Amino acid sequence: MASTTSAGDSASDSAFEARIAAGETIEPKDWMPERYRQQLVRMMSQHAHSEIVGMLPEGNWITRAPTLRRKMCLLAKVQDEAGHGLYIYCATETLGIDRSQLIDQLLSGKAKYSSIFNYPTLTWADIGVIGWFVDGAAIVNQTVLAKASYGPYARAMVRICKEENFHKRQGFEIVATLAAGTPAQHTMVQDAVNRWWWPTLMMFGPSDANSPNSAELLRWRVKRFSNDELRQRFVDLTVAQAQAVKLTLPDPKLRYNAETKHWEHGEIDWAEFKQVISGNGPCNRERLAARQAAHDKGAWVRAAAAAYAEKQRRTSAAPAA
Ligand code: ACO
Repeated sequence: MASTTSAGDSASDSAFEARIAAGETIEPKDWMPERYRQQLVRMMSQHAHSEIVGMLPEGNWITRAPTLRRKMCLLAKVQDEAGHGLYIYCATETLGIDRSQLIDQLLSGKAKYSSIFNYPTLTWADIGVIGWFVDGAAIVNQTVLAKASYGPYARAMVRICKEENFHKRQGFEIVATLAAGTPAQHTMVQDAVNRWWWPTLMMFGPSDANSPNSAELLRWRVKRFSNDELRQRFVDLTVAQAQAVKLTLPDPKLRYNAETKHWEHGEIDWAEFKQVISGNGPCNRERLAARQAAHDKGAWVRAAAAAYAEKQRRTSAAPAA
């Protein structure tokens, strides 16, 4: 479990900052400032919650996948997301917080999860576009988190990113198939692109000027690039992919700047982002209600686990005959 002392222990603080500056990895038993621990708990638990809530919009399509192959891929993908949530909850527990506390924070609305999972999946094309855009954005964000200063988080990201690559590829394959299909299929996938593009750009978080946590996280090398830098990287990668499958990104201001060698994009609707992260997106209530129902249905498992743990404790405490 993480070891911290209250602020003001300047020798420990300086030694910690020196380790960060030297590019060392911080491990659970190492001393760390309380604020570093809190920032990690906040960010990692939100990430874990996102993986778990993120199963809902896609899980919604498992029974309606158009072929057996698509169904198997989607099942595997949704199952992977559960695994990602579990790795990250475990990694967060190394910071001295119990998973049940984290889940309480999610269910009470205290903890956030990614804004993107508060949008509905209206057609099969949405499943393709989620794989392409949402998992594509997650890869851009998480390959750099694999170099984060906190060891358990960074290591969890290595495996997660490998699986995310499969997720992105299966999504892009669905998109490419629909885009090259009948006019109705092309229209359906273009509509999904139109609906998911802007929410995907919001996944990277507020612009750097309005990101209260970034300075600290960058200084401590939890984040290695800013929100805007990663968003730009995603846009630069995705424009060419959209062109390859003859789909249009819904941004009339999208233009290539030959000097900067970046694709410039239009203004993001930050009012919409604020609404979604305040609990007022199209599906926020539905998502939390689904998580609460799953939690309630699992009460018997938690009770059985607690009873087993208690039995183990009593057995090991009993004097040998
Ligand atoms: N959705 C919901 N909340 C968000 C989002 C978002 N897309 N972006 C930012 N926020 C919240 C932050 O959590 C923060 O709120 P808080 O202080 O109450 O916790 C607030 O908006 C201000 O944002 P920042 O100061 O920029 O926050 P931060 O520095 O933590 O950056 C980011 C946000 C980029 C999401 C970062 O936390 C991160 O990289 N997290 C890990 C990756 C992750 O969680 N991905 C989720 C999707 S993973 C998937 O596809 C399954």
